[in-house]
Amino acid sequence: MPTVAQQTHMHVGVDYYPEHWPRARWETDAKLMKKAGFNTVRLAEFAWVKMEPEEGKYDFEWLDDALAVLGKQGISAILGTPTAVMPAWMAHKYPETLLTNKGGDRAVWGVRKNNCFTSGAYRLLSDRITLAMAEHYRDNKSVIGWQTDNEFHGGGQACYCHTCRAEFQEWLRKKYGDIASLNQQWGAHFWGHLYREWSEIQLPVDTSGHNPGACLDWHRFASWTNVRFQADQVRILRQHCPKHFITHNLMGLFKELDSFDLAKDLDFASWDNYPVWGDQPELSHSSALAADLIRGLKKKNFWIMEQTAGPCGWGTFARNPRPGEIRTVSYQQLAHGADGQIWFRWRTCTAGREQYWHGLLGHDGKALRRYDEAAQVAKEYHRLWPLLEGTTVKSDVAFIYDYDSLWVTMFQKSFNGNDYQASLLRWYKALSRAGVNADVVSSGADLSSYRLVFAPNLHVLPDALATRLLAYVAAGGVLLCDCRTGVKTESNLCWDRTLPGALAPVLGIEIEEYGALDNNQEFSIEGESELPGSFNIHQYVDYVTPKSAQALARHTAWFLESFAAVTRNAYKKGSGWYVGVISKDDAFYAAVTEKLLADAGIKPVVRPPPEVEVSIRQGKNSKLLFVINHSENKKTVKVPKAKLELLSGVMTTDTLELDRFGVAVIQLR
Ligand code: GLA
Ligand code: ZN
Repeated sequence: MPTVAQQTHMHVGVDYYPEHWPRARWETDAKLMKKAGFNTVRLAEFAWVKMEPEEGKYDFEWLDDALAVLGKQGISAILGTPTAVMPAWMAHKYPETLLTNKGGDRAVWGVRKNNCFTSGAYRLLSDRITLAMAEHYRDNKSVIGWQTDNEFHGGGQACYCHTCRAEFQEWLRKKYGDIASLNQQWGAHFWGHLYREWSEIQLPVDTSGHNPGACLDWHRFASWTNVRFQADQVRILRQHCPKHFITHNLMGLFKELDSFDLAKDLDFASWDNYPVWGDQPELSHSSALAADLIRGLKKKNFWIMEQTAGPCGWGTFARNPRPGEIRTVSYQQLAHGADGQIWFRWRTCTAGREQYWHGLLGHDGKALRRYDEAAQVAKEYHRLWPLLEGTTVKSDVAFIYDYDSLWVTMFQKSFNGNDYQASLLRWYKALSRAGVNADVVSSGADLSSYRLVFAPNLHVLPDALATRLLAYVAAGGVLLCDCRTGVKTESNLCWDRTLPGALAPVLGIEIEEYGALDNNQEFSIEGESELPGSFNIHQYVDYVTPKSAQALARHTAWFLESFAAVTRNAYKKGSGWYVGVISKDDAFYAAVTEKLLADAGIKPVVRPPPEVEVSIRQGKNSKLLFVINHSENKKTVKVPKAKLELLSGVMTTDTLELDRFGVAVIQLR
């Protein structure tokens, strides 16, 4: 992969659509951007028809002019390959480029993200527009990089057309080699679903009824068609624009796309962050988890390609970010490793579906409160850059994020309320409240640098992964597993082993039975001396028998009395923990997390009060502690004293007062 020049400054700016506004306005916009301290825009990701109004006829004049107007104010651009929306002429001329829905009907043109990724016509036309743009912009001084398409797999729609089916069959043939092996891996003997030929294979349209192995492979395939489509564009861009970076705006915790796979071809990952729907503190935790996942994709800092700039929504809009909140939301991402910050969007559009998805400027184009707040952030970021440069989050703790486990629990939850991401968030929240940063890594990642690894709900457990987890603990690591660990094979068959299967040696337990707890049923568990307290449990329970493990909490319900709820097992130099319950109490996860941190020898620098988040970025030359108040109340935080708080320029005493939505950046070194 060609190297991309080292980032020399903080990139801050907006998603901008000059094609929505009269040319006479462009200069005003560019000047206002410059005044705000913006230096970067993303352009053109939905402008295919403007650039190719007729097949093979390209028109870049308008975009050249826009780049020139922006360039005059010192603003650089990231260009989007415009393949998220096909021109009307394309759908008309090549109807097979439109995706086919489950019922066999073709999508009606007029929305976006409605193409088929196996359509030869679509792939060819995508290559051509990418090539035309790459050739045209390779030497344009204003262009610094590319965003491929927009939010791959957006809408989560897959295509069910006959080309997709034929390609799926071919993909399976390459994977399994012979049909007997596919029959075996899918367990196709069940209900007499054995295949004799590849061409008999159907698309599993109903993931709650079709064969679970078929559903998993179908998800892998559908994700891969996006990855392959991107790879075609990347190949062209790399060849013609070796000096430009390539990224993509992922959707954080979006479930259908294997983001690790998609990010492989990128220089760095980006994501779109809109934490204004829902309630605090849950919102801030899931945005932080998403940030750590996006950083984990390439183990590298990332960009925010779309950041909340105002009330968001298509039909109805969410709340207007409170004064200070645009800044808080931005700083949270900076604190987790964002090196680029682009607000969506510059000015609220007067036309189209996103009339109510508000930008920094309103419909009237006036630069008011939200603009001022973003400008303040931009200016602060530029001031901080010399200390931020080269820093990232360095963590002793990792979460395993496994798309196979995520997907199979979408088709078969196991029990009501089970959700893969929720099971990560329970632990992530507890860790974040304890003031400790985490990395989020794939199940294939090297774990040796971590002292503590959380692997919640690791439903799919191939032997190779179990072996690596064993080796990790043997070498001194602390591993936390919980409910439904090791249930499935890589092809989504149930293992024919007593749970927790291949992890039994490291966890030192046996689970002969388990059960869902009916809705609203709650039981309690009692901690032993090391984990004092009584905690409520619900939803599900593993009947855990400790073998070599020590029980740290036990059940009180009469039918569970002989079983453990929490166990710890010493295994070679490390320890394997198992939590066979789901608790309603945050205090439970906090208590277990404290013990895990102690076992792993990890001490937080700051223990933040509720709704305050801390995160540390560090590098060769500096170590910065971010303290972020996500609430509308003032907060007092105990921090290291006699350190410089960079935003105020004041030295810390041992307590820090944060205003509502207040932020502090403390230079630890
Ligand atoms: C996504 C897209 C943007 C815009 C926003 C708001 O994040 O990438 O183009 O549509 O949603 O709907
Ligand atoms: Zn298709």
